[in-house]
Amino acid sequence: MSEVSRFWNEQADGYQSQLGDWIERSHHRVTADILNRELEGGRVLCVGGPWVAADTELDLTVVDVSLAMLRAYAAAGMRPVLGDARRLPVGGPSFDHLVVPLVLHHITGRGGRDARSNVRTAVREAMRLLRPGGKLWIQEIVVPGPIYAAELALAPLTRRLLGLKRIPLVVFHTDRFLRRSLEEAGYERVRSMVTDSPHEKWHDWITPVIGLPELKIPRLLVPVGYRLLVGERPGE
Ligand SMILES: C[S@@+](CC[C@H](N)C(=O)[O-])C[C@H]1O[C@@H](n2cnc3c(N)ncnc32)[C@H](O)[C@@H]1O
Repeated sequence: MSEVSRFWNEQADGYQSQLGDWIERSHHRVTADILNRELEGGRVLCVGGPWVAADTELDLTVVDVSLAMLRAYAAAGMRPVLGDARRLPVGGPSFDHLVVPLVLHHITGRGGRDARSNVRTAVREAMRLLRPGGKLWIQEIVVPGPIYAAELALAPLTRRLLGLKRIPLVVFHTDRFLRRSLEEAGYERVRSMVTDSPHEKWHDWITPVIGLPELKIPRLLVPVGYRLLVGERPGE
């Protein structure tokens, strides 16, 4: 079992239950309102779980590397499939939509180079399963360029420090890098929507590291933004 699967198997109960009422005032609600509306009637593949507050009336197949996370999705009526975003164990191309919600920053490897290469692999793999004209949706947490440069340079050290707590490395990308990755993979009409919530304030106390619930800091110290990117597989 990989380090990432083990980590998410351990986190599954806590992750699902800690979201609670806060969802309604968060970036999750902004994203869910768009996706629940735009994906209605389509065949949807979610990679790395569904988006939070997904409409369970939708036709949802969910791939994840964690069996424990999949169990919760199956209980909510979704079709669970154990697999990795970089080599999806599903035949294609038959999906109208492929959604990757808050997952790409977890597919990292040993450092920044692996993390960037994994994003490119995952968006290419997504294209294989989309029907012509189908859409890839990416929900992500993004950082400004200077923070990204520091994050990439420090990734080996960050990996070692997180490793002390058995937490796999996380790398947040820039909006620009994500958009470029979609364009380079051949997606058309690529755009990015800001999904920050007006209810999330700079002085809120947040737990920035999943797996370290005791670490709480003001949002001000975490210079991230929320985005929903979309690109279309070229038609025939
Ligand atoms: C932060 S959780 C997001 C869960 C859900 N999508 C959401 O928005 O709340 C990250 C999820 O990505 C999954 N994951 C991590 N690496 C993955 C990979 N390479 N392929 C598929 N899923 C992966 C984890 O098991 C975990 O369920």
